[in-house]
Amino acid sequence: MSNLEGKKALITGAGSGIGRASALDMAANGASVMCADIDAQAAEGTAALIDDAGGKADALGLDVSNEADVKAALDNTATRLGGLNVIFNNAGVGGGHGWDGTIAVNLSGVYYGLLHGAPMLASAGGGSIINTASVAGLVGLTGPAVIDPEEIESGAGAYVAAKHGVSGLTKQYAVSFGPHGVRVNAIAPGYIETPMTAEFRSEELAKEYITNLHPIGRLGQPEEIATVASFLASDAASFVNGVVLPVDGGYTAR
Ligand SMILES: NC(=O)c1ccc[n+]([C@@H]2O[C@H](COP(=O)([O-])OP(=O)(O)OC[C@H]3O[C@@H](n4cnc5c(N)ncnc54)[C@H](O)[C@@H]3O)[C@@H](O)[C@H]2O)c1
Repeated sequence: MSNLEGKKALITGAGSGIGRASALDMAANGASVMCADIDAQAAEGTAALIDDAGGKADALGLDVSNEADVKAALDNTATRLGGLNVIFNNAGVGGGHGWDGTIAVNLSGVYYGLLHGAPMLASAGGGSIINTASVAGLVGLTGPAVIDPEEIESGAGAYVAAKHGVSGLTKQYAVSFGPHGVRVNAIAPGYIETPMTAEFRSEELAKEYITNLHPIGRLGQPEEIATVASFLASDAASFVNGVVLPVDGGYTAR
C-alpha cells in the first residue's frame, strides 16, 4: 500500500489494462483520480468501478496524440479535482499502427503530457509524473514480434523507438524539473496480460516464447504495474527521480 491521501491524479489510458488497474490502485490508496482515455466510455467505466469501491473519481475523453486535448485534460483535471499532483502518462498502442501512428501516441502523447504537465505541477508546488515506457524502452524486441523483417520499421522498430524516446524524455524532464519539485520517472513493464497483448497470447507458440523471456516464468498482471505506479506517485518515493524502472520479472536482467 502507498499513501496517496489528498493526491489528485490524471491517468491516461485509464479505460483498460495497466491504466485501469492503476486508477483503481491509486484511488484505493486515497487519491482522487481523473480517468482519461480516447474511449471515453471505458474511462467512465473505470470511474464507476472506483465509485462503487468508495473512492473518488471522474472521467474525460482525450486523444493524447492531440496536444490541445492533453492541455485541456490537464486544465480540466485541476479544475474538477481541485488541483493536480500526479500525472500518469500511460496511454499507448501496440503494433500495427505504422511509424507515424505509433510515434504520435506512444511518444508525442507522453511529450505533450510532460510539456504542459511539468510546468503546471511546478507552479503548484511540485508533484510526481510517471510515464509508461516498456522493456522496449531499454532493449530491442526479439522473437515473434519482429519475425517479419519488412514490418520492423513500422511495427517493432516504431514501438522500440517511441519507448526509448519515453526513457529519454523521462531523464531530461527529471533533470530539468527536479529543481522545481517535480519528480519524473518511468516504468518499463515486461509483457503484461492486458487487451494489448491478447491476440499475441492467444497463439500458443508465441505465448510460450514470450513467457520464457521472463526469468520469473510467467507474464505480468496489470495490478503488478499499478502498485509500482502508486509507489512512484507517493511521497515514499521522494528521492526517486529520473529512473526507468523495469517491472519485468527479470526480462532485462540477462
Ligand atoms: N501490455 C504489455 O505487455 C505492455 C508492456 C510494456 C508497456 N506497455 C505499455 O503500457 C501502456 C498501457 O498498455 P496496456 O497494456 O494497458 O494496453 P490496453 O490496450 O489495455 O490499454 C491502453 C489504453 O490506452 C487507450 N488509448 C490508446 N490510444 C489512445 C490515445 N491516442 N489517447 C488516449 N488513450 C488512448 C486505449 O483506449 C486503452 O484504454 C501502453 O503505453 C503500452 O505501450 C504495455
